[in-house]
Amino acid sequence: MERPSGTTRLAAVIGSPVRHSLSPALMNAAFAAAGVDWVYVALEVEAGRLPDALVGMRALGVSGLSVTTPHKQSAAACVDGLSEDAERLGAVNCIVNEDGVLVGHNTDGGGFVRSLAAVHSFDPAGRRCVLLGAGGAARSIALALGRAGAADVAVVNRTRTRAEIAGDLAGPAGRVVEPGDVVDVIGAADLVVNATSVGMGESSPPELPIDPTSLHAGQLVVDIVYRPLVTPLLAAAADRGASTGNGVAMLAHQAALQFELWTGVEAPIDVMSSAVADWLR
Ligand code: ATR
Repeated sequence: MERPSGTTRLAAVIGSPVRHSLSPALMNAAFAAAGVDWVYVALEVEAGRLPDALVGMRALGVSGLSVTTPHKQSAAACVDGLSEDAERLGAVNCIVNEDGVLVGHNTDGGGFVRSLAAVHSFDPAGRRCVLLGAGGAARSIALALGRAGAADVAVVNRTRTRAEIAGDLAGPAGRVVEPGDVVDVIGAADLVVNATSVGMGESSPPELPIDPTSLHAGQLVVDIVYRPLVTPLLAAAADRGASTGNGVAMLAHQAALQFELWTGVEAPIDVMSSAVADWLR
């Protein structure tokens, strides 16, 4: 069948800037592999124009949107309904057009937990977790780890007030740990997640979000950064015998959850992971 055709459904990523986005290549590869009649484009939407964009989504019958910076919070305020995760986080990264009713979701934390299972066979239930950072990504991970039944979600952040918000999202397992006490909690952790921006890009000398001396074999250390693929934290963790994972799997799995929310079809995760790897190469 020739695509796009008269019946092809449209999805898009909206944000600013958005022209560098991986999402069109990733999602179109996934639509083709799954054999669904959808197409995906990138639409530059300036800050402040999100309400107009959603009027357009309704009028044009756009079936799905991915939402990125700077619109994640305003999307939570402008859609017709929210998933439980999006409501708790006050942030939307995916909108589903359900016959004219726009429902906002947030797939970041769910994608993270799914990537732990898929790549590392790691189930957070009953495990001790340390979460470094308390920005948007960290908050979604805190919520997801708490929901997955983690025994302890120790949030460490430079700014304490933000750490408290992330800790609350993790529910009864959540707590705040001062940066000065991080070596002890890391020594006892099964999972360490870096969701700060420390270690992103090139820096000389290499920057670490923590003192790595208590990282050890038997624990999993995940950095949600994917540029570089091996951050200084992951290099230090591997040196000490820990298992490691970078941000590639979370990126692919949060997109896979969006694909499934829109199409109702199981996402071709292998194709999506390869598309991410090709883009980063
Ligand atoms: P995102 O929404 O993409 O997750 P963000 O909201 O900018 O990103 O959050 C970045 C995270 O990295 C925050 O936890 C930030 O700490 P603060 O809450 O104290 O700002 C953390 N971060 C950034 N630079 C840092 C640095 N040099 N040292 C320690 N933490 C840093």
